[in-house]
Amino acid sequence: MPFPKAELHLHIEGTLEPELAFALAARNGVVLPFADTDELRRAYLFKDLQSFLDLYYALMAVLRTEDDFAALADAYLARVATQGVRHAEIFFDPQAHTSRGVAFGTVVEGLARALERAEERHGISTRLIMCFLRDESAESAMRTLEAAKPYLDRITGVGLDSAEVGHPPSKFREVYEAAAALGLRRVAHAGEEGPPAYIVEALDLLGVERIDHGLRCMEDPELVERLVRERIPLTLCPLSNVRLRVIDVLEEHPLARMMQAGLMCTVNSDDPAYFGGYIGDTFHAVREALDLGNEQLRELARNSFLASFLEDDEERRAALLAEVEAYDFERDR
Ligand code: HPA
Ligand code: ZN
Repeated sequence: MPFPKAELHLHIEGTLEPELAFALAARNGVVLPFADTDELRRAYLFKDLQSFLDLYYALMAVLRTEDDFAALADAYLARVATQGVRHAEIFFDPQAHTSRGVAFGTVVEGLARALERAEERHGISTRLIMCFLRDESAESAMRTLEAAKPYLDRITGVGLDSAEVGHPPSKFREVYEAAAALGLRRVAHAGEEGPPAYIVEALDLLGVERIDHGLRCMEDPELVERLVRERIPLTLCPLSNVRLRVIDVLEEHPLARMMQAGLMCTVNSDDPAYFGGYIGDTFHAVREALDLGNEQLRELARNSFLASFLEDDEERRAALLAEVEAYDFERDR
């Protein structure tokens, strides 16, 4: 069995495989602008974040019913159960659905149905994190938070995603304050395509506990020092960074340098259907490309549980951490 790990940066809509997209399209009478799965896969050549987002949002047209969202999450959970995932904190983009006329409740009820049976079926505990689309207005985000209120028993936190440059964290200060007042945990994408200053804003203005991506912190030594001192977890997504051309090749990914600098790094898959691998595949690729040793892998596995929102189940966190310490990483070669 692969080593135990938590996934902390995963957009459930980014797990929509071409086969499921076409199956749901047929079921819902949606016509996709691609002849078949091969033609769709050939469109997975991205030049930047926006070119990916265009396709990512377009394909969501096939997601219409509670059953569709449950099928999407079921497929993801079944797949990563075989890759050692024991805990998953899953992002979803409510505005990308409500703007198409799909009710907030349809999305959450469908996803939650799959998540609720994941522990029993797959041994995976889960949390749900709703992301605000940063290229939409702060008012729209606030309305989305309002729509979430009947479902807060199933939502652990809020995040911030979509097109980063030109949409700084400061735009969402009031929304994050309101989310905190509701007892929600806070994370945000920052420093993926955007500058290190966005990471500082996310920490100081939004009060986030983790930074999603954050790799551009490496351009600001003072910020690195702060992130190390405050032990702020970074949810890195190396295959995403290559596919979205944030870096040129995996061999140049700063992960190993970031770990050496003392940063609390985790490795995640982001949008695995689009970026060439689920989390286990991602670990195999970075291990090869960056020549990571067993103790570096153990640190990454340990960090994934330490950085997770398992505060209401410290017993489970302790058990999973003990599994990490006991694991023989040679077995996962
Ligand atoms: N960055 C920003 N927004 C996103 C991403 C990403 O990598 N994936 C899905 N939405
Ligand atoms: Zn992401």
